[in-house]
Amino acid sequence: MRLMLNKVWLICSILLLISLSSVNGTSSTDYGAVAALGNAISGGGGTATTWSGNDCCTWPGIVCDPDTLRVTDIVLRAEDAPDRVPTNGKLVWSGDWTGLISDSICLLDQLSTLIVSDWNSISGEIPACITSLSSLRILDLSGNKISGGIPSDIGKLSQLIVLNLADNEIFGSLPPSVVNLGSLQLLDISNNKISGEIPSEFGEMKMLSSATLSQNQISGSIPASIATLSRMADLDLSMNQISGSIPEGIGSTPVLSTLNLCSNQLSGEIPATLFSSKGLSRLNLSRNSLEGKLPDNFCSESYFTVLDLSYNKLSGEVPKSIRSVKYMGTLDLSNNNFEA
Ligand SMILES: *[C@@H]1O[C@H](CO)[C@@H](O)[C@H](O)[C@H]1NC(C)=O
Repeated sequence: MRLMLNKVWLICSILLLISLSSVNGTSSTDYGAVAALGNAISGGGGTATTWSGNDCCTWPGIVCDPDTLRVTDIVLRAEDAPDRVPTNGKLVWSGDWTGLISDSICLLDQLSTLIVSDWNSISGEIPACITSLSSLRILDLSGNKISGGIPSDIGKLSQLIVLNLADNEIFGSLPPSVVNLGSLQLLDISNNKISGEIPSEFGEMKMLSSATLSQNQISGSIPASIATLSRMADLDLSMNQISGSIPEGIGSTPVLSTLNLCSNQLSGEIPATLFSSKGLSRLNLSRNSLEGKLPDNFCSESYFTVLDLSYNKLSGEVPKSIRSVKYMGTLDLSNNNFEA
């Protein structure tokens, strides 16, 4: 009897062990969604060569939460591909992916990071359902051929810190809901076909420190609310069709270091605060229709690595205080109407 019980106990233990190990070895419930993403993204060919087996948590580029086995990060950068840069000498994924970003990612409701960048040929649209991924913190689809618009309810992504859609073929306007992205620190939509105006409540994105909207077809004026962004360090609106004047308060934002507004249709005078700003080191206002005299308020603490005001309609004398700045790297005042 004793022996029998022992045997039963042993069998139970073994069964328990087997079932435990199979729980451990089982794929995440997100397996299907990741596999579908891989298939769609690779356009049928050249998929992730080591994306095999049913435990997607071990696949290159996929990170799961160790407790829940739910997928939290997807990081697929072409530059990490071994045919360009060796990754421990192993073939991780190969081929030029030409597919699209499948709706199946929207099933990954614990997803915090989605980076699919620099594949050049990945096309299709940003799945509209992506705005239901409420844990998303980093969305980087830069360097592809993605077209269509930015989902109109993008503002629902309240945890989003990075939104990088640069170097694609995205069109339509920047949805007004974007201003609800209260955690956003970095916005890059440069080099697309985005038109329309910058939403007037742009200044609602209080955490924003870098905004790159260059090389699009954005029109309208620069919203005055931009001057309320106290963390803004780099603002690049260059190569658009932005008109109107430069908001007065922009030079008073505390940490602004780069302001690039070149190649637009800006008019009016340059706000004096831009020249007396201590932190601003790169100011490019070239190729606009700015006019009037330069204010004589350059300050001795100013440190300009770039000050480019060329190709405008500026007139009067070049102010004497410009010689008092602590440092002047590239200075270009050419193609204006300054007095000799
Ligand atoms: C300022 O912007 C113009 C127009 O894009 C560009 O050609 C120029 O090189 C920039 N200036 C500097 C000094 O970088």
